[in-house]
Amino acid sequence: MSRHPRIATLVGFALLTCGVHAAEHPLPVTLKEAVGNRFHIGAALGTDLIKGEDPRGEQLLATHFNSITPGNIMKWEHIEPKLGQFDFDLADRFVALGQRERMQLIGHTLMWHSQTPAWVFQNADGAEISREALLQRLRAHIAAVVGRYKGKVAGWDVVNEAIRDDGQLRTDKPWYRILGEEGIFAAFEAAHQADPDAELYYNDYSLENPAKRATVLKLVQAIRARGLRIDAVGSQGHWGLDWPTIGAIEDSLNDFAKAGFKVMITELDVTVLPRPMNYFGAEISTLFETAPELDPYRAGMPADKQAELARRYAEIFAVFAKHSPNLTRVTFWGTTDRTSWLNNFPIRGRTDYPLLWDRESQPKPALPAVIEVLKQSPAP
Ligand code: XIL
Repeated sequence: MSRHPRIATLVGFALLTCGVHAAEHPLPVTLKEAVGNRFHIGAALGTDLIKGEDPRGEQLLATHFNSITPGNIMKWEHIEPKLGQFDFDLADRFVALGQRERMQLIGHTLMWHSQTPAWVFQNADGAEISREALLQRLRAHIAAVVGRYKGKVAGWDVVNEAIRDDGQLRTDKPWYRILGEEGIFAAFEAAHQADPDAELYYNDYSLENPAKRATVLKLVQAIRARGLRIDAVGSQGHWGLDWPTIGAIEDSLNDFAKAGFKVMITELDVTVLPRPMNYFGAEISTLFETAPELDPYRAGMPADKQAELARRYAEIFAVFAKHSPNLTRVTFWGTTDRTSWLNNFPIRGRTDYPLLWDRESQPKPALPAVIEVLKQSPAP
């Protein structure tokens, strides 16, 4: 399990005391009570929940979480589907829901190479847009979106996934081919202008990979060196049962802390399914063909896997508790296994079990395991 003796002891204790049949044991406290004031605890919301069509999800949210991120509806293709034509309907509902439930609201995301329409990078004749015109579109988009929710959204994932897995800026994508790093600075500047009180974040995945982390560190230091506001680094946390190692997770948290950056785990989930070609990234366009051996739990997850997931979540949360002085938020990418994006990534149509609640919205053994490990971990 963990090569850290204290964490291993905590995890062992948590599993002994909570048993493996979560649903049979009433929870002593909720997830947010167990976290206390160590960090915010959040969930990404699917469109059904935002529309009011997932009452059980809404109940889970109100009971266990105090922070929300929209899973899709604030992305460029949804919120500005045509040039200058904004569709704020679902984003407004997301914000109203968060205010009603007194949640911390996180905006996701302003500048990303995915889920951004092709027209953003084209003139009316289809030719590639000039640098100046693209900067103008980026600034206008950010001014409109951040400005609308000024004083309501607490923090924004300003730039998402600008660095490739090999540690290079994504100059194969139009944002960075046309604008280079300057585009990132412009995005942070525009977001700050639109809401000077909002926190601003850089968000990415696989930060446990040292090469990628080194470039991300350089980038966020460059943002800061420009005198721009940046409050934290978002580490997505799309993880598996045995990758990354606990040591790699800790190294990443330590490196950012040493450089003076707070970290947030922004998209936590733990896949229990095999990954083809050892692909552990979260680049949404990377998709593989399915095969029966790659989808082994269609009929249900065996008890030993269930226990393994509970152990994994317990060791992860023991690390979060230990690093909580530098960790401001932990957000799960979804609420229940039924709606997790991992059922469709990086292979479409599989049956994954990555979250703390099952397909029927019942708590899995991983939930009391997490609660117990938090209760056993000393508060900072
Ligand atoms: C995912 C959504 O959950 C899916 O519904 C959508 O089809 C693709 O995007 N990194 C991110 C998130 O920053 O925005 C992605 O969300 C998952 C990977």
